[in-house]
Amino acid sequence: MPQVQSTLENFLADDQLTKAQITDLINLAINIKNHPADYSQALAGKSVVMIFEKPSLRTHVSFDMGINKLGGHALYLGQQNGKLGERERVSDYAKNLSCYADAIVARVFDNSSIEGLAEHASIPVINALCDIYHPCQALADFVTLQEHFTDLSNVKLAYVGDGNNVSNSLMFMAAILGVDFTLVCPEGHGPDDALFNKAKAFANKSGSKLVLTSEVGSIGQQDVIYTDTWVSMGDEDPSKKAALLEKFAPYQVNHKMMENSGASIVMHCQPAHLEEEITTALFDSEMSVVFQAAENRMWAQNAVLVTLLAN
Ligand code: NVA
Repeated sequence: MPQVQSTLENFLADDQLTKAQITDLINLAINIKNHPADYSQALAGKSVVMIFEKPSLRTHVSFDMGINKLGGHALYLGQQNGKLGERERVSDYAKNLSCYADAIVARVFDNSSIEGLAEHASIPVINALCDIYHPCQALADFVTLQEHFTDLSNVKLAYVGDGNNVSNSLMFMAAILGVDFTLVCPEGHGPDDALFNKAKAFANKSGSKLVLTSEVGSIGQQDVIYTDTWVSMGDEDPSKKAALLEKFAPYQVNHKMMENSGASIVMHCQPAHLEEEITTALFDSEMSVVFQAAENRMWAQNAVLVTLLAN
């Protein structure tokens, strides 16, 4: 296996990563994708425990299959133990799992659980989605964009819809990498002010443009449009659904928006709510790279695992 240098201890939040760390992970993901046999023993003799407080298709399967492709062993811990911190403390989860496993992958409701695991575990922790971040998804998305554009610094990426974990992670990675990023969110559904200001500081440093608007008509010229569900897991409230659908309707990503912005690629982390945030016709179109990005989840996460467990 090629030598992998690493300064990474955990993979928790995009805003804790440097440009060099993200770029190295993107390049490593593409290398593992192109030469999987070179990494087939990278995790030999190692076990990764995967805690899921929320449902998952891509994350669960791509971690499990990906770990297998690296010669490692994955253990799925579902919700039989309840929410983290309820049956036993997060710190005790972390300390117990550190006795057996070599890394923890966790999908949780609260970011504080990720932080608690990282604080108390003696093994690396990977955030597989929380209320604030989805760094594995953003990394796979930038792997996908790297495959489409030779120079990421020329790419104009817009996210249209609900400001959530996925848009936060994209915003941070774009700002750190120097990718122009426009967030188009309905009034009251944008990112948290503190997170946006933090991302703005990254963008100023990398020299990229970061724009937040609620005016869907001012999306401007874009290369790529990204969207995600209007209601994230854990935020469902049936009594508010009708009003929400009405408020978000102008933000639907469809062929007309692609045409008006000049974008040629559409992305979605999935699961998609077809005919809500994206039309079926666009999701199924030639412009859609959703399945390429879904595959890249596995290669991106394998790059994270190889990097974290390389030392
Ligand atoms: N924002 C979505 C992403 C799902 C992969 C959610 O948190 O439900």
